[in-house]
Amino acid sequence: MNKSELLEKLKKEIFEDETLPLRDANLVFGEGNPETEIVFIGEAPGRSEDLEGRPFVGRAGKLLDMLINEIGWKREDVYITNIVKRRPPENRDPLPEEVQAYRPYLKRQMEIINPRLIVPLGRFSMNVFLPDAKISKDQGKIFKKGQKIIVPLYHPAAALRSTAVLENLRIAFHRLPAIKNKLDEFLAKKPEDSGLKPDRKDDVEQKQSGLF
Ligand code: URA
Repeated sequence: MNKSELLEKLKKEIFEDETLPLRDANLVFGEGNPETEIVFIGEAPGRSEDLEGRPFVGRAGKLLDMLINEIGWKREDVYITNIVKRRPPENRDPLPEEVQAYRPYLKRQMEIINPRLIVPLGRFSMNVFLPDAKISKDQGKIFKKGQKIIVPLYHPAAALRSTAVLENLRIAFHRLPAIKNKLDEFLAKKPEDSGLKPDRKDDVEQKQSGLF
């Protein structure tokens, strides 16, 4: 099976999994190019996403699209998904048990796509990959975990509420093409001599508890 077929099969599995929480809402699995090197991962679908069954199609999604276009990329060339694949009621934050319940599926989705650059959007998504990171301190930094580079960014919805956050998000976003061009170099380096954050100790700790 090719990647698209494997993803379709996984989507069907999630759809049929009656143990998952939030089953009153529609499934928003994710979309984009399964052959991509880059995946953007948000928190959970909102109202527009629930209605359309597609990730990041509301106001935050429009901002994400704008930033993707600003750096010369196209939405259809990357992959976009969320850690929780159904909308929490009233757009509340996802509960830890909801994140946990969908996590094995996110892991399998990433194993199928196998991107080299993962861009978590917001703290909930960031903490799935980097459990000890803090969004205000670590957004825009380059983390190496195994054979992946992780660059957590502010969530676009937060940027819609604050011009300072938008400014920081845009600055970090505009660094993504350079990071993508240097993936081989970053991934070849050992954490201790790469100049990457965090330091080696953190990296080892995060490997024990993060998604990869
Ligand atoms: N916010 C998210 O985290 N994900 C979406 O898909 C839409 C808004």
